[in-house]
Amino acid sequence: MDWNEKINDMAGGYKNAAILLNSLRAGIFDALAEEWKTPAELAADCKLDARATDIVVHSLAAAGILKKDGDRFSTEPGARPFLLADSPTTMKSILGHNLSMMRGWAHLDEVMQSGQPIPKQEQSKEQLRDFICGMENVSRISSLDVAAKIDLAFAKRLLDLGGGPGTSSITFANDNPGLECVVYDLEGPIEIAEEQIANANLSNRISTVVGDFHTDDIGEGFDVVYISNIIHMMDSERTLALFNKSRRALVPGGRLLLKDFYLEDSQTEPAFCAQFSVNMLVNTQGGKTYTRSEALDLLGKAGFGDFEVIDVATQSQVIVCS
Ligand SMILES: C[S@@+](CC[C@H](N)C(=O)[O-])C[C@H]1O[C@@H](n2cnc3c(N)ncnc32)[C@H](O)[C@@H]1O
Repeated sequence: MDWNEKINDMAGGYKNAAILLNSLRAGIFDALAEEWKTPAELAADCKLDARATDIVVHSLAAAGILKKDGDRFSTEPGARPFLLADSPTTMKSILGHNLSMMRGWAHLDEVMQSGQPIPKQEQSKEQLRDFICGMENVSRISSLDVAAKIDLAFAKRLLDLGGGPGTSSITFANDNPGLECVVYDLEGPIEIAEEQIANANLSNRISTVVGDFHTDDIGEGFDVVYISNIIHMMDSERTLALFNKSRRALVPGGRLLLKDFYLEDSQTEPAFCAQFSVNMLVNTQGGKTYTRSEALDLLGKAGFGDFEVIDVATQSQVIVCS
């Protein structure tokens, strides 16, 4: 291994992230999708400084995200499905969310000294939309895999706790004509979920509930409670309390599906999950990436058993239990 290169790559990683994410936010990739442009033309279109744009687009071309021909630039065709706003496979929202989070990561030194997350800031409407629609960018892929690997045909009612934009409920309802889903989340995300559910023509089978799952009732009589990418935001006391609540919300024999990124017991693998834990350290009170063993232990304490662990995209697992 070339240690010098490894350490320099790790140390300089923030520069690549800053170039990519700020260019995305500035609209550079959309602006270079239809037409090849000079940096000056691009700067005028995106309302940017011409010299700064010239330097940044050359670095994007060097990184292979833009193509350069003469003095004109265009977004690389291979990158377009993920970077352009109107692509059905766009990752624009989750990448925008990454940009918002990068500002918090700059304070990791303070977090490491205090053990406390960065102070919570009021999210702008754009930041909330990036976060919630970013969940759609991620869950679009994983929920299809969950639906393919876990048979929900037995279920009539499913509670999607912290369901965000409702992506999983939309996938599950589309796959199971007899299934009714409830997306439960805070007020802002539920507004976005309602848009997505209406766009999917599923308002007759997917309803929404505005609530705080820590303090409010979550309902009862569900055949399935689906908890996807939630427990990494919470400490183990709150996680156990949510499992207890979920158990009470299930009919006898009902199933809990707990999807998340899980660490192996060593806590060093998968590397992405170990890094994600730092993200939760910076941004949440007590959140982290749980090991699968820790999650199973907490589920057991809440009275769940009959565990099955299923690998799903992307780098996630679903623990199915009853
Ligand atoms: C990381 S997202 C996961 C969204 C979705 N389950 C998925 O997998 O795509 C976490 C979700 O939990 C919601 N959430 C956080 N705290 C909550 C609370 N106290 N009550 C209800 N929902 C909450 C957030 O608004 C957000 O939609």
